[in-house]
Amino acid sequence: MSSTNVSTNKVLYVRQHIFSGVIRICHWLRAMSIVALVITGFYIAWPFLVAPQSSDVLVQGWIRLAHEIFGFVLIAVTLTRAYLFFFSKDDIERKSLKDVMSVKSWITQLKSYLWMGHLPHAGVYGPLQFVTYLGITLAAVFMCITGLVLYANVYHLGIGGALWEPAMWITQLMGGLAEVRVWHHYITWAFIIFVVIHVYMAVWMGIRFKHNSVDSIVSGYDYHPENGHH
Ligand code: HEM
Repeated sequence: MSSTNVSTNKVLYVRQHIFSGVIRICHWLRAMSIVALVITGFYIAWPFLVAPQSSDVLVQGWIRLAHEIFGFVLIAVTLTRAYLFFFSKDDIERKSLKDVMSVKSWITQLKSYLWMGHLPHAGVYGPLQFVTYLGITLAAVFMCITGLVLYANVYHLGIGGALWEPAMWITQLMGGLAEVRVWHHYITWAFIIFVVIHVYMAVWMGIRFKHNSVDSIVSGYDYHPENGHH
């Protein structure tokens, strides 16, 4: 047996708490609702299941109800996350703002993606990552607003009724209900593209920088070797 058996080498790992419980819950509620909204939304756009004529089950209605429930989950998480960004004592995303303002930080991040050097930044997120998350958040806000406009158009009591006036105002601003629906459909693709790149990058970052990455958003902890690049 060789004396240089690498599997017996010991490496010290540092454990760092990076994601609080509420951030992790927000992340997974958002992930779950986005997946459900894309699937049920595409079904609403193209309802391919037809109940037999004798059936009184309105498939479209149930799918639409599920879409609205997940829609309200997304609205709640979007509001909670925005509140934390502005008012939490030390929000992880707000901390990364420093890097967005720094040209050096941008260059370092882009270089690190090309396997050139490491990625030191003040917050948890790199500048490009921050801007991407800001973009997908604005897309979520757009989906919540247009979703509520489509909702208020059908439900005239409760929340729908309370939102009637602003919903009509937005409908006119966007050039009619058909336009609201079409834009709600187009922006769905932003989420599909985001999810594919987001998952790929999360796995890649873990391998590239020897950090915990996918696990951290479940456990809250990041582990990286004490010496060398983390
Ligand atoms: C990531 C978020 C979301 C995605 C990807 C999404 C996707 C979609 C899609 C693809 C459609 C079908 C549009 C069409 O007919 O071509 C749709 C319809 C609709 N969505 Fe969303 N949606 C999202 C968020 C929301 C939210 C937050 C609400 C608010 C409750 C909402 C309420 C609705 C309503 C009421 C309809 C119309 C249903 C109908 O025409 O019968 N959506 N959505």
